[in-house]
Amino acid sequence: MEGDALKGKSILVGVTGGIAAYKSCELVSRMRQRGAEVRVVMTEAACRFVAPLTFRVLSGNPVSCDLFADPGQWDVAHVSLADAAQLVVIAPATANCVGKLASGIADDLLTTVVMATRAPVLIVPAMNEAMYNNPVFQANKKRLESLGYHFMDPAVGRLACGKIGTGRMPEPEDIISEVARLLSGQETPSMLAGRTLLVTAGPTREPIDPVRFITNRSSGKMGYALAEAALESGARVILVTGPTCLEAPPGCEVVRVERARDMHAAVTQRFNSCDCVVMAAAVADYEPAQFSPSKIKKGSHELSLRLTRTPDILESLGKVKGNRILVGFAAETGDVVANAMQKLKDKNLDLVVANDVARQDTGFESDDNEVIMVFRDGREIAVPKAPKKEIARRIMLEIARLFWGREG
Ligand code: PMT
Repeated sequence: MEGDALKGKSILVGVTGGIAAYKSCELVSRMRQRGAEVRVVMTEAACRFVAPLTFRVLSGNPVSCDLFADPGQWDVAHVSLADAAQLVVIAPATANCVGKLASGIADDLLTTVVMATRAPVLIVPAMNEAMYNNPVFQANKKRLESLGYHFMDPAVGRLACGKIGTGRMPEPEDIISEVARLLSGQETPSMLAGRTLLVTAGPTREPIDPVRFITNRSSGKMGYALAEAALESGARVILVTGPTCLEAPPGCEVVRVERARDMHAAVTQRFNSCDCVVMAAAVADYEPAQFSPSKIKKGSHELSLRLTRTPDILESLGKVKGNRILVGFAAETGDVVANAMQKLKDKNLDLVVANDVARQDTGFESDDNEVIMVFRDGREIAVPKAPKKEIARRIMLEIARLFWGREG
């Protein structure tokens, strides 16, 4: 399938000056084997790691390095390369290159081509972990993402500096999968254009007295990733969020709430203007029956709290959903698919995303998740462990497909 996605496509590979440049040789070679027409543009620093001749042989095309090289025939190199490309991949992308692109600096052939192209750009950073986590790099990455550039998260493993950490360039096959996904045309920047998605995220807090509350382990990461992925896909996004430490993705309307009943009111109020609701929030099922306006004093006696049910937000939306798409999450610790299917039926959902929250490496608080998407018709799609942002993109693709399915 990936082979088909690459066949006959014109892909421009930008190589910048990092040790991972040697892996780009393999990347170029494999893309060509899959039928892509590959052009390589190298920065000056990249030429110190790998000789342009290597890429020339592997791509079967001339390699461009110099903005001012005599083109032989009249053809402005950066414009023709930028126009011809159906996708640009920068792998490896150094912090320097990302910084230049984020600041609009085009002082070599590669940055000039990237600024001139209208094709999607996939940036594959590879660098030392401290550099990757540096707030300046992260701010540049965020800026480019908000402008529609695609990024792949680096892999974890042994780095060139000898340390084990995050920063390795992903394997060529993983980059090719991402390239295929972008080229397949299913994930376009506009697949949800014109739709309004309401996403809920984070925990709720149910107060006991002015200083105590009942809550849960939700960090909001999954919900915020969904809001970001929906924005990337062109949707208008309303993020209704419980208390989290996260910064909301720029571009969405943010509604902050504390209690389950506040979230219920916030979602219900906006439901009419939405095409789809995605509930990733971990909404408390119970709240204290009584709120003590003054701090409950500790004593030697036992203290019992009486709890009452909170409104089930999704269930109430399911009763009045009309032609909206309703997506729920199922936080399970056993019989994941069966329980998820039951929730789908009980709440009249179109899709339920089940995750096993007994695991430490996925689910609550983790940066990663592993999910099974369960549909009304009984179809199941398992998405292996991946960063929550990747999972969120995959969910957005399925939501777009549900819309397309309705339009015939
Ligand atoms: O926030 P993170 O740390 O990133 O963790 C992500 C997550 C584990 C919280 C997320 O992936 C997830 O599973 N969210 C749903 C948590 C949950 O409440 O699951 P549930 O199986 O109890 O509820 C089923 C669905 O009903 C959920 O979509 C929930 O939002 C919704 N619900 C639940 C209770 C309620 N009173 N009203 C609701 O609408």
